[in-house]
Amino acid sequence: MENQAAERKKIVFSGIQPSGQITLGNYLGAVRNWKQLQEEYNCIYSIVNMHAITVRQDPAELKKRTLEAYALILACGIDPEKSIAFIQSHVKEHAEINWVLACYTQFGELSRMTQFKDKSQKNPDNINAGLFTYPVLMAGDILLYQTDLVPVGIDQKQHLELARDIAIRFNGQRGNTFVVPDGYIPKAGAKIMSLADPTKKMSKSDPNPRGCVYILDPPETIIKKFKSAVTDSDMEVCYREGKDGINNLMTIYSCVTGKTYEEIEEEFKGKGYGDFKLAVGTAVAEHLAPIREKYNALMADKAYLEKCYTEGAEKASRIARRTLEKVYKKVGFLPK
Ligand code: TYM
Repeated sequence: MENQAAERKKIVFSGIQPSGQITLGNYLGAVRNWKQLQEEYNCIYSIVNMHAITVRQDPAELKKRTLEAYALILACGIDPEKSIAFIQSHVKEHAEINWVLACYTQFGELSRMTQFKDKSQKNPDNINAGLFTYPVLMAGDILLYQTDLVPVGIDQKQHLELARDIAIRFNGQRGNTFVVPDGYIPKAGAKIMSLADPTKKMSKSDPNPRGCVYILDPPETIIKKFKSAVTDSDMEVCYREGKDGINNLMTIYSCVTGKTYEEIEEEFKGKGYGDFKLAVGTAVAEHLAPIREKYNALMADKAYLEKCYTEGAEKASRIARRTLEKVYKKVGFLPK
C-alpha cells in the first residue's frame, strides 16, 4: 500500500545550467521552490551541463562550475536522500531521447523561441545547431521522468510550453507515452530584475557587475550592490506601475523576509530609499549566509559530493531508461 501511495506522488523535475555562478534570480525564481517541493513530491533536479555547451565554455571552467553548482543546490536545501540530484551528462538517456524528440519538433516552432533569438544576437559568431535545438533537449529532460510539475522562472515558460506541445504531439501520433507537464511558476520572484537596469532580467551576462547578485557573494558585496540599485526620482516605497526598481526590491525583500507588500510599505513609510536599499541588502545577505556556509562545508568534502551525484545518476537513469525503452518501442526501433 505504502509503495502504491509513493508511486502516485507527483513528479517534479527542474534543471539549472552551470554556465556561471548561480544568481539571486535563479535562487528566488527556481531553486528556493525546489527545496519546498521536496516535502510533497518526488523531486528530480539536474545540473544541466549539456545545455551549457550551447554557448562556448572553457572546459576546465565548466567542469569546476558543474561541481560547484551541484554543491550549491545541496547547500540551498536539496536533500539527496529525499530528492534525486544528478548531473545531466551522467545520464545518457538525455542525449538519446533528444534525437527522437527532435524528429517530433518542427523547425518553425524552434524558430519562434525568443531565447534563441536573444542568444543568437548576443553570440553572432556561434549560432550553432545545439543553440537552436536546445528546447528539445530540455523537453527530453522533462519528459524522460514523466514529470507532472516543472518549477522554473518566467523566462522558461515558452520552452515549457514547447515541451508540452511535443508530448501532446507524440502521444497523439504514437499513443499515450508521456505525462504532459505543467509549469510551476512562483507568484513572487518569477522574474527578478537587474539592480542596474530594472527593466531587464537579472542575469549573469549583465554588462554592469552591480546589476547581478550571486548567491555566494560575500555579505559586504551584496549590501554594496543593493545600495547602488537603480530606483526612481520620487521618494515612496510602494509597489506601483512604473516604479520598476522599487517593485523589484520589494519583491526581493518580500521573498526573503516573507513580508507582504503592505507590510513593507508600512515599514518604510516616511523613510528614504537609502534606508530601504540597505534593509533589502542586509536581509538578502542574512538569508544567504547559511547557504554560503553550507556550500563551503560541502566543497571541502568532495568524496561526499561524488557519492551523491553518482547515486543520483543511477537513480535517475533507472527511471529515464524505462521511458526511453517505451519511446523506442513506440517509434518502431528493433530491440537488441
Ligand atoms: P537557467 O540555468 O538559465 O536558470 C535556472 C532557473 O532560474 C530561473 N531564472 C530566474 N528566475 C527569476 N528571475 C530571474 N532573473 C531568473 N533568471 C533565471 C530560470 O527560469 C530557471 O528556472 N533551460 C533552463 C534549464 C533547464 C531546465 C530543464 C529547466 C534545462 N532543462 C528542464 C526545467 C526543466 C535554463 O537555462 O535555466
